[in-house]
Formats: sequence, structure tokens, C-alpha cells
Amino acid sequence: MANNSIHNEIHALQSICYKRGSLQLLDQRKLPLETVYLDIKNASDGWFAIKEMVVRGAPAIAIAAALSLAVEAVNLETFQGTADAAASFLAQKLEYLVSSRPTAVNLSDAATKLKEITVKAASTRSEANAVFQAYIEAAEIMLEDDVASNKAIGSYGASCFESQLNDAKKISILTHCNTGSLATAGYGTALGVIRAVHAQGILEKAYCTETRPFNQGSRLTAFELVHDNIPATLIADSAAAALMKAGCVQGVIVGADRVAANGDTANKIGTYSLAVCAKHHGIPFYVAAPLTSVDLSLPSGESIVIEERSPKELLNSRGGLGEQVAASGISVWNPAFDVTPANLISGIITEKGVITKSKDEDFDIKGFVLKVVAQ
Ligand code: MRU
Repeated sequence: MANNSIHNEIHALQSICYKRGSLQLLDQRKLPLETVYLDIKNASDGWFAIKEMVVRGAPAIAIAAALSLAVEAVNLETFQGTADAAASFLAQKLEYLVSSRPTAVNLSDAATKLKEITVKAASTRSEANAVFQAYIEAAEIMLEDDVASNKAIGSYGASCFESQLNDAKKISILTHCNTGSLATAGYGTALGVIRAVHAQGILEKAYCTETRPFNQGSRLTAFELVHDNIPATLIADSAAAALMKAGCVQGVIVGADRVAANGDTANKIGTYSLAVCAKHHGIPFYVAAPLTSVDLSLPSGESIVIEERSPKELLNSRGGLGEQVAASGISVWNPAFDVTPANLISGIITEKGVITKSKDEDFDIKGFVLKVVAQ
């Protein structure tokens, strides 16, 4: 990753700053105290930025990866080769980018789609440049589409919560991890729904968890909520059950890294505990995710690969970035995600509408996807 960092106070909530030929990623490890952008010059810089959590959140990872390679393609001085050679050059780089983090399907989904586009371009054109051009344009469209998709998720989510109000005028919602502007190209998924509920005037309060061990909640979600003047309270992850028992929240909404065909959902570690607690207290539990987070190739969540991260995230403060806090010599288990079974999920809010359960209490996600694709 290039060492030259760019200080920029204006785009405090913009994790991805892109214009053709140049990409800067907001170094989320430094938030909320410092706003520092890192220059990303190629796929290798992109890989490290994703691995090291400069950029994180399923949609943001996919877009940052795609754009890091777009920047490399724009700035290639010479490429000696055919259109097919250009397509396989890009395919290899995409495979490498996919290896940075395994759980979020958005990254491999983006890589598959981009590979298809380059293969198609190579089948109709003979110059390598035409393939690079097709790749760059497709990667740029992914950036644009994400914000529109998040706004649509927000709007469907707000209607969904509005219909739950009954006699109450306002609702309080608990969220986990960071699923906002920082985790996407802008606006956010689950946090986008909270933004939309607030914009509609029906949000009493948002509660966000700290999200141990990396503290995406206290560092990033709290930052976004304060930035947007949304009434909000931070809680320790372990306070969630007590918060629900006290009747303080009427809904839970989280993002997703991968939704299997039956609705089982991988998301930030601790999501499963929240879903169990919500079920016990009779509180609706929603997942908000773009359809790029759906993986119809997996029948259930059992085969989702869960990333395990460094023990340092628990042994040291600030999610591994600070001083030692745990006893030397203790062993650590640090899965970054868990899988929430579909039976604990009330609905999946997508950019094409809310996927609800049939009478048999099942999600027909494939049926939903086929229907919206046909429209
Ligand atoms: O490890 P992270 O910070 O990348 O984990 C992020 C999450 O689990 C989010 O909830 C998910 O990616 C959805 S972001 C819109």
C-alpha cells in the first residue's frame, strides 16, 4: 500500500474516493480520531487494504477490490498481449483479490461478474485495451449501483418498520457492527434502514453495540450516528439481552456477509446471540442486504467459510491495534463472523423488496430472486 496518506476532513463518511485512475480508501482503523485516506495504486494495495481492515464491510470490500484493479488497469504503461491475454491477466488479479477475506460473498460475486464481462469483451474485440476498458467501466458501475441499492433497501426497511408501529408513534432499533456509509459506497444497508426510519420521523432511538473485538460499532457506527444527528446510544455487546428485557427496543436490524439459499445468514460475530435474544423477547429480527450478498449455491449456512482473525484482536486493546490487555499465554478463538439460522430471522430486506416467510416458516429466496430478475 502506498505510504503517502492524504488527510481529508470533508468526506468523513466516504470510505471510497474514486475517480478514473485514482483511488483513495479511508483508513477505518484510525477512525473516529483521525481521517486519513490511503492511496491505492493497484490490486496488491487493494488486497492489503482489505486484509488489514483499512476498508471493511461486505459491499465496500467488493467495490474497493474491483476499483483497485481498475486503477491498475488505467495506469498500465504497456500491455503486450491479445484481448484474451488481458482477460486472463484481469482474472488472475481478481482471484488474488478474492483471497483477501473469505466470508463476504459480495467480493467473489463481483469478481465472477467482472470476469464474465472481460471474457465477453475478449470474445468480440481483439485489442487488449477494449477488454481493460470494459473492465474499468463495469467496476465503476458497481460503485454507482451500490448507493442506489442501499437507498432502496432503506426505503423498503422504513416501510417495514412503519407497518409494525401499531399504536406507537416511534420505534427504537438495535443494530450491530457497522453497515453504514463506511461499509458500502454510501448510505448503508442496516444502518441505511435506520437512516431512512429516522428521516421518516419514526425513530425514537438507535442502539448500537460496541461489536467486540474490533469495535466497528463503537468506532464506526457511533461515529456515523453522531455525524448524522440521529438519536443513539452505545451499549456493550453483553448488554443487549438486558436492553431487550427492559423493553427498550422494538426491532433489531443487522447486515449480512453471505445469505444462503434457505436464509441462514453469516454476519459479524455476535449477530447470532442477538437473534437468539430477540427471539426470546419476541422482538422482530431483520437482515438488510443487497442481493449481491445472497449465495444461492449454498443450500444452508453450514458450509459458509468463517474467517478467523488474529488472536491479537483480543489480546490487545482497540481490536489488536493498542496495548496488551489479556494475560500472556492464554489461547484465543476469534471467529470474525457467525451464522444466524433462518428460523430466527423475521425478514430479509433487499433493494427489490422484503423477503418474508411462507406459511411453512421458510424463505423462498431463489423464487424471490427469479421473480425480481424477470421483472
Ligand atoms: O469484519 P467486517 O467489519 O468486514 O464485518 C462487517 C459486517 O459483518 C457487516 O455487518 C456486513 O459486512 C454488512 S456491511 C453492509
